[in-house]
Amino acid sequence: MTVPCVAVDRERGETVRERLADAGVLDGDHRIEVVDGTIYLPVTKPSGVPPALAGSLVERDAEERDRPQTPADILGYDPSLERLGDIVIIDEDDNARAREIADAVMASDLPCATVLNRASPIEGDLRVRQWDVLAGNSTETVHREYGHEFALDVAEVYFSPRLATERHRVITQAGANESVVDMFAGVGPYAIPMAARGATVVACDLNAAAIEYLRENAERNGVGDRVTAIAGDVREISDEYAGSADRLVMNLPHSAGEFFDTAVTLASEECLIHYYDIQHEDDPFGPGVRSIRSAVGDAYDVVVETERVVRSYAPHEYNVCLDVRLSKR
Ligand SMILES: C[S@@+](CC[C@H](N)C(=O)[O-])C[C@H]1O[C@@H](n2cnc3c(N)ncnc32)[C@H](O)[C@@H]1O
Repeated sequence: MTVPCVAVDRERGETVRERLADAGVLDGDHRIEVVDGTIYLPVTKPSGVPPALAGSLVERDAEERDRPQTPADILGYDPSLERLGDIVIIDEDDNARAREIADAVMASDLPCATVLNRASPIEGDLRVRQWDVLAGNSTETVHREYGHEFALDVAEVYFSPRLATERHRVITQAGANESVVDMFAGVGPYAIPMAARGATVVACDLNAAAIEYLRENAERNGVGDRVTAIAGDVREISDEYAGSADRLVMNLPHSAGEFFDTAVTLASEECLIHYYDIQHEDDPFGPGVRSIRSAVGDAYDVVVETERVVRSYAPHEYNVCLDVRLSKR
């Protein structure tokens, strides 16, 4: 069966789709299609199409929508997408292809307010990247992970939804009445769930914006009374919290190794360290283990409880985690 459609160049697809939606004539019962660079947007009432688009009206066979329409349905290929709250993240070097994917995401049934493309690597001490905003206008969102909510702005703070499974592995080891120091806490994806399990958590981050979000997130998840959030360099809090940590989270791959002296100062008599590192596949765990042993000296017995490859980071490089127990001699 044919239905009226507005046919325009694919590059104009998102703008025109928004205009038709604003005019109340976008037909949600039939599928949007792209053929040879032209996007066909089904409409319910040709007379309601804005005059500037009336010349683009055509009659066309359009399939009925019996299931939600995905970006892949519109594009004819499956783009790689990452979801962060109501933000969709793409990683595309080709600007035209990035635009095409963003338009398809917005035209699909994926719940999405903003589409971002990576515009730089993760940079600097604060581990933040730059973004191209391809659709929508806010880089702030609320992301849900294993039942907890995290408000964050990806333009201001570090956050990776890809690490959810690894975080969960570590978080579920934390017990009630433990004292935890999260040395590089970000917006709180370790600190807050650990506090929800009954731990008392000191969460530190150099990025003042991340700590603002962490405080908000602690309240949002009902654990404000068990989280102390501190903005600053973790080295500067080591005296105040010396000897207090039953558990330490060290998630600053590339440079956490520079903070082992601080970790040893913070450790209580029996302390489990979750240490993240990025190393060559030839010896992914050796450098971390050697650095910990050297920082600890004779003060503690050191047992490496877990050596885990978290993910492939770059060709021949792994992001790894060591769970290391320190027991005072
Ligand atoms: C890789 S991010 C991890 C954040 C968080 N743990 C997560 O999983 O989302 C590392 C964090 O360490 C913080 N950071 C870097 N140097 C620091 C320092 N000397 N003291 C405290 N935090 C630091 C950065 O601002 C960044 O938020």
